[in-house]
Amino acid sequence: MSGASGSSDIPAIGVLVSGRGSNLQAIFNAIERGELRARVAVVISSRADAPALRIAADHGSTCHVIAPRDYPSRAEAGATIVDVLRAAHVRVVALAGYKPILDACVVRAFPNAIINIHPSLLPAFAGGMAPRPQAEALAAGVKLTGCTVHFVTEEVDAGPIIAQSAVPVLDDDDVETLSARILVEEHRLLPLAIGLALSGRLTVEGQRVRLAPA
Ligand code: GRF
Repeated sequence: MSGASGSSDIPAIGVLVSGRGSNLQAIFNAIERGELRARVAVVISSRADAPALRIAADHGSTCHVIAPRDYPSRAEAGATIVDVLRAAHVRVVALAGYKPILDACVVRAFPNAIINIHPSLLPAFAGGMAPRPQAEALAAGVKLTGCTVHFVTEEVDAGPIIAQSAVPVLDDDDVETLSARILVEEHRLLPLAIGLALSGRLTVEGQRVRLAPA
């Protein structure tokens, strides 16, 4: 199993979720296939009823529910998230379908170490959770859309881009078919970006992320 029970020289990551958890499952799959050398030390959900929590528990990860509405302020929820991630010694944090806007204290605690996956080719169709970016792509009539993995900064969906993958928008697409095509790429891109961030080969200069040769 690839959960929290790996040996301590395997880098620890944290994953934040709010819903279905297919990207979390993709991370576990990549670990189990040997494509991502990491262990999911902790999963934090913003919702107690997120199906992603079941996926996390099935893989032996420690789970926490930190619902912002249970805290007097977003900053206090954020401070709790920081405490949990630090206690787990995570090197990288992945937002895998995490709905709340992260408080700035979390972003500052893990500079260039929090990665988000967004279902559009940013900076197009920024903001909003799935399926809004997919619906906006259809409404705009673009012929290509896709997904983006980027470092999280204090401005939503505006951090330095690590990787993108494009998919075609087909004439008979609806939000569901387009989302499904993008999701295949999300599941490939998020574990890849986590691995790159853990590799230490990424450098961030302004908005640009450069990859040093292996
Ligand atoms: C994905 O489309 C992701 O890009 C967006 O929210 C969705 C989460 O899906 N941020 P899942 O919970 O990982 O299945």
